[in-house]
Amino acid sequence: MANQDDTFKKVISHAKEYGYVFQSSEIYDGLSAVYDYAQNGAELKKNIRDYWWRAMVQMNENIVGIDAAIFMHPTTWKASGHVDAFNDPLIDNKDSKKRYRADVLIEDYCAKIEAKIDKEVKKAAKRFGAAFNKEEFLSTNARVVGYQEKINTILSRMAKSLENEDLADVKALIEELAIADPMTGSKNWTDVKQFNLMFGTKLGASAETAMDLYLRPETAQGIFVNFLNVQKTSRLKIPFGIAQTGKAFRNEIVARQFIFRMREFEQMEMQFFIKPGTQGKWYEHWKAHRMKWHLSLGLGEENYRFHDHEKLAHYADAAADIEFKFPFGFKELEGIHSRTDFDLKAHEEHSGKKLQYYDNEDKESYTPYVLETSIGLDRMFLAVFSNALEEEDLGDGKTRTVLKLPSVLAPTKAAIFPLLAKDGLPEVAKQIVEDLKWDFNVIYEEKDTVGKRYRRQDANGTPFCITVDHDTLQDNTVTIRHRDTMAQERVKIDDLRAIIKKEVDVRHWLMKMK
Ligand code: GAP
Repeated sequence: MANQDDTFKKVISHAKEYGYVFQSSEIYDGLSAVYDYAQNGAELKKNIRDYWWRAMVQMNENIVGIDAAIFMHPTTWKASGHVDAFNDPLIDNKDSKKRYRADVLIEDYCAKIEAKIDKEVKKAAKRFGAAFNKEEFLSTNARVVGYQEKINTILSRMAKSLENEDLADVKALIEELAIADPMTGSKNWTDVKQFNLMFGTKLGASAETAMDLYLRPETAQGIFVNFLNVQKTSRLKIPFGIAQTGKAFRNEIVARQFIFRMREFEQMEMQFFIKPGTQGKWYEHWKAHRMKWHLSLGLGEENYRFHDHEKLAHYADAAADIEFKFPFGFKELEGIHSRTDFDLKAHEEHSGKKLQYYDNEDKESYTPYVLETSIGLDRMFLAVFSNALEEEDLGDGKTRTVLKLPSVLAPTKAAIFPLLAKDGLPEVAKQIVEDLKWDFNVIYEEKDTVGKRYRRQDANGTPFCITVDHDTLQDNTVTIRHRDTMAQERVKIDDLRAIIKKEVDVRHWLMKMK
């Protein structure tokens, strides 16, 4: 079995080879943690964004979408707490001169202990066979319980130290655990220091009059500052939500793992405005609802889990991550945050403008509380893409590389081939493309043998291949081949649209959320 590193390397090289993701400015040796989406990647990303938008905005009559600017008045970030508190604790290794996030070093240490737990579970599952009860094993096996206790002790001490700004204790923890520089093995560390993650820029022509701006580190604030404008113009009543998708920027220090942690990335966020006191109910609602959205895509229930935050962000009274099993293990994919009235109150204070809601039923004004769902589009892309990539064993020593993308998200829905590039077959195939392109993203291909074309489309993630042959000229039927099963059927050209629609239609996929 391939190890995690190999699997991840394959994901990255496949993304490049098949036109999904390129390193930004590659001809200049690239820019670290910045990526470009290529012809297929841009389609996949757009389809994920649309799938989110449909589920959040179109399917909820009390949620509307906006598109706020990236640049915002600089006081926004003072009010939101990002100027003072959007920091990462950093530590340098004196020998290697490499810089790390102190919390990530500690979390990686815990992930190694977690890997030991996984190993014990696998061994026991093998030993006990069908009688194996994982829950029971995890709670009773002395070694596993010991590992879990160690993880809990380390993480809660780290959370407490970070909460109390006790950076000396974070360093002490790294030293006590004998954590070494992952690149060199050196344990010669500096003190831990805080580092602000926002990118600064300037607005204005001359140095004297220029105004300091930040590139937004989250899209959420564009929603908060527009809260009353949207509420008044939409006449929505609480509870209601405002959604948006857009770029965010963070000067990440630990910028590795491909598009998992980027300096320029895209978020899909929704702020749900509620009556104070109802946040517990809505927190559970949105946790469950967002998980349903994920599961509707069929990436496998076992690949998701919730992780409740030990250390809460400066704005939250409860928070959980939806974690996904990436090629490098379970990591955060989406956050569900109960943000209280922190943001609206802070904007009221800093702007001097009231951001309150008048409740017609209760005849009172109040500052709403907010439930937020926030997912990284690029991270979702990586989840979908890495989960889909398979090296499938076809028996007799043969394999095929196939990208089993959920068909609703696949960049190209069907590839249409003439069996041979002569005898009038290309003309018929091109006519099918002409007919289908009104509804779906389809392509025409005639290069190489049909077998090679099938393989190329499998690796591209295309759910259907349609082949026009000499019989087509007689009876208007074609062969349609399904990517995942490789099954082939003979169908009428007139039925193609309905066959493809049944499989790729958003409605069919979103229905699974019901
Ligand atoms: N408005 C709340 C907020 O921004 P967050 O947990 O910092 O919360 C939300 O970010 C989501 O954005 C994360 O769950 C992740 O999917 C994505 N994200 C955050 N930083 C990222 C980065 N550097 N690169 C890619 N995605 C990122």
